Amino acid sequence: MSEEKIIRLDMGQLDGEAHTGTNRAVLCLGIESSCDETSAAIVDSDRNILSHIIYSQIPEHQKYGGVVPELAARAHILAIDEVIKQTLEKAGKNISEIDVVAATAGPGLIGGVLVGWMAATGIAQSTNKPLVAVNHLEGHALVPRLHAAAANGTDGAISVNFPYLLMLASGGHCQILLVQGVGKYEMIGQTLDDSAGEAFDKVAKMLGLGYPGGPVVDKRAALGNPKTFKFPRPLCDKPGCDFSFSGIKTAARTFLGKQSAPYSEEYINDFCASFQAAVVDCIIDRLSNALQDERVIKAAPKTLVVAGGVAKNSAIRAAMENLASEKNMLFAAPPMNLCTDNGAMIAWAGIENYLLGRVVKEPIAPRPRWPLTEL
Ligand code: KG4
Ligand code: ZN
Repeated sequence: MSEEKIIRLDMGQLDGEAHTGTNRAVLCLGIESSCDETSAAIVDSDRNILSHIIYSQIPEHQKYGGVVPELAARAHILAIDEVIKQTLEKAGKNISEIDVVAATAGPGLIGGVLVGWMAATGIAQSTNKPLVAVNHLEGHALVPRLHAAAANGTDGAISVNFPYLLMLASGGHCQILLVQGVGKYEMIGQTLDDSAGEAFDKVAKMLGLGYPGGPVVDKRAALGNPKTFKFPRPLCDKPGCDFSFSGIKTAARTFLGKQSAPYSEEYINDFCASFQAAVVDCIIDRLSNALQDERVIKAAPKTLVVAGGVAKNSAIRAAMENLASEKNMLFAAPPMNLCTDNGAMIAWAGIENYLLGRVVKEPIAPRPRWPLTEL
C-alpha cells in the first residue's frame, strides 16, 4: 500500500464461512481494465489487500493529450497476463487458493473491458471458480468500505456502513448517489454535460499542463489565488442536485483568449486556483441540496463519502469534510491509491457481491454503458 495513512475499518467480519465451508476469509482476484490502467489485486473478506499491481498506461497516452481507446486496448492485451501473474506471486498464492474471480464488465472503453473480462472468464472457467461481473462504478462506490482515510489522513477509524451519500467523481462520471446497499443505488444528481474529471483534464490541456489534468491542477491551485478569475458556478443558484461543467470550460477558454501564451507561473497558479474553487463550490452546493432531498432525508445516511479519481483532490476532500462536520456527519474517502482506477476496488466489489450470491450464472456481454441504477 502507499505511504499515506490508511485507516482500517472495524465493521466486523463479513460472512465468508457460508461460502468457503471454512472459517477462513474469502480470497478474491480482481481485475480492472476499463480505461488506462491494467490492474489486478488479491483482497480478502477481512479487508486485507494481499497484493496489488497497477500498470498505468498514462505515459503511452500523454503525447495524445488523452486516452486513445485502440492503443489502450492493445496495451491491456500486452500487460494483462504479466499483471495477473505478478499479483498471484506477490500474494504468495496460486490460482487454486483463490475462491472467486472478479473483473470489470463495464462501463468503460469496450476494447479494454473485453481484455480483462475475457482473462477473468478464462481463469474462472478453467479452474471452476465463481465469477463476478463488477460494474466499474460500483468498484469506486464500495471501495471506501474496504479502506477509508480521512481528508488529512489522520483521523480515527471510520466505518462506512450503508446507507451513505456518495459523491462519485471520475474522468467519465459525476454523480451524487444514495448508496443503500450492494447493488442498491439511487441517483440523486448527475452531470448534464462534462464530468468533473473531464473539466480538470480539459482546463489543464488548455494551459499546456499535460494529461491527466487533475493532479497538476490540484498542485498548482495550492500555490495560486482563487479570487483572481471569476469562473461561473453553473446551476448553483438553482434547486436540484445536477451539475454542469461546460460553462466553466467555456469561461476558461474565454479568459485564456485574452492572454497570449506562454503563461507565467503565477498566471497558471491563479488560473488553477480560481477554476478549482468553482468546481469545489459547485460540488458543495449540489451536495447541500442533496442532503435536503426527500429520499436522502428519509434514508438518513450518517456518512458523506467521496470516491473516483477526482476524490484525490485535496480541496474537494477538505471542503466535503467541512460540510460533513457542519451536518454532523462522518466523512470518508478512499486512500489516494484507491481513488483512481485500481484492481483492489474490483476485488472488493467482487467479494461484496459474491457474499450475496451475485455471481455470473450464464455468459454475459460486457457493456460500454452500464448505469449503477441498472444493477
Ligand atoms: O476514476 P478514474 O481513475 O478514471 C475513470 O474512471 O474515469 O479518474 C480519472 C480522473 C481524471 O480525469 C483525472 O484528471 C482525475 O481523475 N484526477 C483528479 C486528481 N487526480 C486524478 N482530479 C482532480 N484532482 C486530483 N488530484
Ligand atoms: Zn474509474
